[in-house]
Amino acid sequence: MSSKKVLVVFGTRPEAIKMAPLVKELETTSGLTPVVCVTAQHREMLDQVLRFFDIKTQMDLNIMKEGQSLYSLSADLLKGMEKVFQSDRYDLVLVHGDTTTACIGALAAYYAKVPVGHVEAGLRTYDKYAPFPEEMNREWIGRVADMHFAPTPLSAAHLKAENRSAHIYVTGNTGIDAMKWTLKAPFRHPIQTKLRKDSRLILMTMHRRENWGEPMKGVFEAVKCVIRKHPEVEVIYPVHPNPVLKEAVAQELEGHERIHLTGPLDVVDLHHIMQRAYLVLTDSGGIQEEAPSLGKPVLVLRDKTERPEGVTAGTLKCVGTERDSVQSGIEELLTDQEAYRSMAKAQNPFGDGTASRRIVSAIQQFFQSQRG
Ligand code: UD1
Ligand code: UDP
Repeated sequence: MSSKKVLVVFGTRPEAIKMAPLVKELETTSGLTPVVCVTAQHREMLDQVLRFFDIKTQMDLNIMKEGQSLYSLSADLLKGMEKVFQSDRYDLVLVHGDTTTACIGALAAYYAKVPVGHVEAGLRTYDKYAPFPEEMNREWIGRVADMHFAPTPLSAAHLKAENRSAHIYVTGNTGIDAMKWTLKAPFRHPIQTKLRKDSRLILMTMHRRENWGEPMKGVFEAVKCVIRKHPEVEVIYPVHPNPVLKEAVAQELEGHERIHLTGPLDVVDLHHIMQRAYLVLTDSGGIQEEAPSLGKPVLVLRDKTERPEGVTAGTLKCVGTERDSVQSGIEELLTDQEAYRSMAKAQNPFGDGTASRRIVSAIQQFFQSQRG
């Protein structure tokens, strides 16, 4: 039987990090041929990941524009994907998560009548504006997908409750697979020399659209208060390159003692810094999943999370974006060792590092069932 062509579509940093282990697994599986199409919804942040994992791309739509709107991004993606499906025929398309690349990739696959496999399926807040536009993106992908790779039993249960009963697999999250690569690689970033050996390091990231403006200001105020009150605390904040964010961060946090602002870090450096950190302050999805593997408490800069498994496990806590709640969340972990210990658990409800293998086995079964 001829090898099945699996088109793997991704375009942003988190998708690349979480698809990389799967591409590697597909590459070493006989009977399956991965074809990697990057949309480059992100450019340099995507390239950082492709370089580290040494992923060869067969197609690069190169669509990123400075300050792109959701409208222009979606339109450019759909036009780009039309060419991809005109140029060849695929047996399966894999998309990841909840970005606009994933949503339009799935839509384009549907137009081409190619089956869709959704990696990281079934995450939900059931609030259509939080996260925005990701919550609706993942719901739409769930509607069109033929195979759903749910990271946890809870995400699978959401899909079942939505009557997506066919081909749901609980696989774990491939982001945890990626950590097997990154943590083995050396940490060489020059920031190491700037960090104090005896400090309590807070790793901070914040980029979500719903946090732009006032919410972000509340968080910045909280961080500045903590820095003023606690001389042992240092903050490292690798800033997402979105112009809206960069400007806000520069205005509020630049020049502050013990707040280290950097550009986006290579994932290897980010994971090594996470390992060195005392706690993590973030609105990132991927970081909520990764930090429990390293036993780091995560204060989530959101009112709700689609990763409640971490809240139940005790490793994540939603502190929102109000200055007082963020500040008291941080200070509790700095001053109450019992509260710290109860969150600093190296147990990860999101995966055990073998998700890619499970996904590839499910794909093999899927093709076998089609033959039978
Ligand atoms: C996107 C995803 C979001 C995900 C995030 C991960 C959508 C709608 N949003 O949001 O779900 O959490 O990626 O980081 O799909 N930029 C650069 N260089 C880069 C990347 C971005 O300069 O390598 C700048 C560009 O000006 C770009 C802007 O950031 O226009 C916004 O990028 P975009 O992908 O539209 O939105 P994100 O906020 O990154
Ligand atoms: N990350 C990275 N460098 C950074 C910040 C984050 O490599 O400077 C990694 C992080 O470890 C995680 C992923 O990027 O694997 C998360 O991406 P992001 O926060 O941009 O998106 P989200 O997960 O919220 O969609």
